[in-house]
Amino acid sequence: MSISLATSADPISAPKSHRDFLGAVAVLRALTESDFESVNREILTHMQSSVGLIPDLAGHLVNAGGKRIRPMLTLAAAHVFDYEGVDHVKLAAAVELIHGATLLHDDVVDESSLRRGAKTANVIWGNKESVLVGDYLFSRAFELMVAAGDLRVLQILSRASGIIAEGEVLQLATQKNIETTFEQYLDVVNAKTAALFASAAQSGALIGNCNEQQEDAMRCFARNFGIAYQLVDDALDYVGFEESLGKTVGDDFREGKMTLPIVYAVARSKPDEKAFWQRTISDGKQEPEDFETARAFMERDDAIVDTIACAKRHAEKSLNDISKVPANKYSSALAEMVETSVSRAS
Ligand code: IPE
Ligand code: IPE
Ligand code: MG
Ligand code: MG
Repeated sequence: MSISLATSADPISAPKSHRDFLGAVAVLRALTESDFESVNREILTHMQSSVGLIPDLAGHLVNAGGKRIRPMLTLAAAHVFDYEGVDHVKLAAAVELIHGATLLHDDVVDESSLRRGAKTANVIWGNKESVLVGDYLFSRAFELMVAAGDLRVLQILSRASGIIAEGEVLQLATQKNIETTFEQYLDVVNAKTAALFASAAQSGALIGNCNEQQEDAMRCFARNFGIAYQLVDDALDYVGFEESLGKTVGDDFREGKMTLPIVYAVARSKPDEKAFWQRTISDGKQEPEDFETARAFMERDDAIVDTIACAKRHAEKSLNDISKVPANKYSSALAEMVETSVSRAS
């Protein structure tokens, strides 16, 4: 086959644009600095237990870092509306605990071995341990939400945790199924990723006392950001770099995960190429060189380029939504994060 491969010089994975995104995340973090420290303290407090394995395993994930995008959505959303209380900190910590729990579960399901630049908890401690500690983090997150004392927010965030689980199960149902459609893929992304983004921002806005239109705008802003973010993540699983992602590139292909790059590549493949996707994805029979071949097909058929184009359309919607809330340093930092999140892949 004479198809050129995506290489490290490929602009899709240029590290400079990745740094721009991390820069925008850092700006938002600096704006929320004092809250941010309190959020980390709440997280550390709520992962404690007299059962030593729990803080060991949870601490491994929490201390490995992570960008803390979701809790910053909650904090910044509250500040967009000049919130002056302290409950946004509890909600932000709850949001990150939910995220942490889903990552522990997700790495078991995806059989991943690298997360946040470190070995995954399932590799170090085992699958059972990861699932059970994930459950513990979920329940501690609920305690925090109750402590914040706003039933509307409790409803929104508890609904989101159910939807994330639905998304992961839905994804399992599409795995290895090369007939998976764009719509089914988008359902998965909406549920497993965008729901928590949306609820995180909506919760912050609600306790900040926004009006109904603003609540909708913040929710839609973060939902579209979440979709764009996951689309870029799915593209980077083919063309990104392990060092900047802190995750193994190629996990999705190995697992036969029907993300948008594969959905497009399968749909655009020539009749005699279907057998490749049948064998590698449906039958899960992969040879070492298959990943490069898959990437070559994706490049030829614009599967990555169009995945990023789709991410950009959602980012544009997201930016349009945030233009409907008060313009201040928080809303503009949020907008900057959305913009750079898609340019990190172009
Ligand atoms: C990982 O989320 C899961 C996806 C939605 C792709 P992040 O990329 O926010 O992971 P951390 O928290 O920064 O490690
Ligand atoms: C994100 O999906 C799943 C959730 C956060 C629930 P991925 O499986 O694509 O996330 P990574 O790539 O492992 O971070
Ligand atoms: Mg995963
Ligand atoms: Mg991924």
